[in-house]
Amino acid sequence: MDLTAPRRHGPVSIRLVRQRDARGLQNELLSNRSWLRPWEATSPDGPVSFDMRLGVRRLLQQYRDGAGVPLVMEYDGELAGQLNVWGIARGSLASATIGYWVSERFAGRGITPTAVAMATDLCFTELRLHRMEICIRPENQASLRVVEKLGFRYEGLRRRYIHIDGDWRDHYAFALVSDEVPEGVLERWVTGQAPRDAAIVPPADRLPA
Ligand SMILES: CC(C)(COP(=O)(O)OP(=O)(O)OC[C@H]1O[C@@H](n2cnc3c(N)ncnc32)[C@H](O)[C@@H]1OP(=O)(O)O)[C@@H](O)C(=O)NCCC(=O)NCCS
Repeated sequence: MDLTAPRRHGPVSIRLVRQRDARGLQNELLSNRSWLRPWEATSPDGPVSFDMRLGVRRLLQQYRDGAGVPLVMEYDGELAGQLNVWGIARGSLASATIGYWVSERFAGRGITPTAVAMATDLCFTELRLHRMEICIRPENQASLRVVEKLGFRYEGLRRRYIHIDGDWRDHYAFALVSDEVPEGVLERWVTGQAPRDAAIVPPADRLPA
């Protein structure tokens, strides 16, 4: 099982984060504050360190422990953002969750859906996971487009689920199980086979944006 080899589709690639990415990531995070802040995980215990050297070290430790797969997204070889597979549960769940961001200047080029598709395929094949989940704030239209494009299936509303931008925030949960995508998530999407209505939120769960 080789998770360190980059995966590529057109100009978009994903690869495992490296300790030497810390400086570049920190620069992007600092220069994209207003873009990222509304969607960023925070701690209910107060502000946490912004030291990405420490952050990358922790992510790589989680990778070694089998708890996560911390990836970066690149566009034409340039660092565009992060895609983090976290909360890997083994055994009879075989499930994980994906989180992601790109710098504002890379938005709108289809980087994230391509990277999410490749990362999910990687987890289903190499890691033999069975389920991948993505949780999104109802207000995050751009991120909701990512799951819509890929045909992730709406699963439900989780009240005050994750601490984001300083408070507990409601989230919509979307998921795919490997049985739904025998051809792979990327293949299904690029061949136009992703179901268009899987991510539709039913009226009863719609919150005022
Ligand atoms: C959500 C996010 C990761 C999407 O990544 P992306 O690589 O731009 O994805 P796409 O290119 O598929 O664009 C998705 C949608 O973003 C919107 N979008 C495109 N360009 C944009 C821009 N310059 N500014 C704001 N939104 C834009 C469009 O609605 C687009 O949908 P469309 O392709 O149907 O027009 C990105 O907007 C981001 O990093 N946002 C801040 C962090 C965040 O929200 N993370 C996710 C938390 S769940």
